[in-house]
Amino acid sequence: MAILTRLCLAVVLSLSAGLALAQSEAQEQQKRQLTQPGNNAPVWREVRSGQENYTTVQGREAGVLVQSAGETWRQIRNGPVTFYGGWLVILVTLLIAALYFARGAVKLHDRPTGRLIRRFSTVEQVVHWSTAISFCVLGISGLIMLFGKHVLLPVFGYTLFGWLAALSKNLHNFIAPLFILSVLVMVLMWVRDNLPRAYDWQWFRKAYGFFMRGEHIPSGRFNAGEKGWFWFGVVGLSIVVSWTGVILLFPNFDQTRSVMQDAWVWHAVAALLYIAMSLGHIYMGTIGVEGAYGNMRTGYTDETWAKEHHSLWYDEVKSSGRTAPGGAVPAGAPHAPHGSTMKEKA
Ligand code: HEM
Repeated sequence: MAILTRLCLAVVLSLSAGLALAQSEAQEQQKRQLTQPGNNAPVWREVRSGQENYTTVQGREAGVLVQSAGETWRQIRNGPVTFYGGWLVILVTLLIAALYFARGAVKLHDRPTGRLIRRFSTVEQVVHWSTAISFCVLGISGLIMLFGKHVLLPVFGYTLFGWLAALSKNLHNFIAPLFILSVLVMVLMWVRDNLPRAYDWQWFRKAYGFFMRGEHIPSGRFNAGEKGWFWFGVVGLSIVVSWTGVILLFPNFDQTRSVMQDAWVWHAVAALLYIAMSLGHIYMGTIGVEGAYGNMRTGYTDETWAKEHHSLWYDEVKSSGRTAPGGAVPAGAPHAPHGSTMKEKA
């Protein structure tokens, strides 16, 4: 009985204390209406404090009315990320264009022999192109979502740009799982050939000569530049964009808003670096190095190309110390491709 009385007393006391506080806050507010009409600063200060209040809605942070860090996130997004990220992509594009116009493509020194070596298996080609295509879709749709309102909206107007932005968002969400899966298989498939070797240092020392004068640098199946792209881009940046991307893609795992804001910043910065690096890779894989594109398109390379760009790998394949995917294929073999993109020099 005594316990019950004490309990009742405690409830009454705390209720009356709460009521008294609410009453004094209301009086304070009434006074403010007279001295500074329309100024609800104390109320809004409390709302913006991010303090959790009571609500019947279930969920993390459901009791927070306004999460002010959202405004900080918006300023980071529309400020440094857009500004520096935009300039990074533009400058890398200009740098590559300058290299191409100043130097031109890295050409073969000797004539193609017409004898072909299998450089990539069909599985490797499928995995590479599925990664490349999904990456391009994600990159382009991501750039539209980040820079579209500055670059495209003034040209297209609201209707067309709204449609394009919605399409980009949906493509981004649905293609992302394909990229994550493809890149995972790619890493497992090529990790062995990308392990660093002592001779890789030579490539970094002679890289200038390679780009400017097309000098040969002895390399294994992949050279040190390709290995840098593999470890820093394909492994490192893929982990960051995929991990943070999944946090953003599935907000139903009870993560807080600040976790999503942090994830966005990491995602955007890593993606912009990745896009900038990929421009270098795409340049080298298309117009930058004679014959490279044909290797991935057909899966075969000419012996001259293999000798000039990956001489250690060529020696291994020829000495059968190691089999290329499919093995070395002599010219005219029934399963050799019909055409190579390397034209015989007259
Ligand atoms: C349209 C875009 C792309 C083109 C034209 C392209 C072209 C090529 C070519 C021609 C090769 C073979 C080079 C050789 O024979 O040594 C290659 C290799 C490779 N590509 Fe791509 N690629 C593209 C996009 C991508 C993307 C988005 C990724 C990864 C996210 C990627 C990852 C790789 C990797 C890991 C290799 C193996 C050599 C290395 O470790 O760098 N590629 N690519």
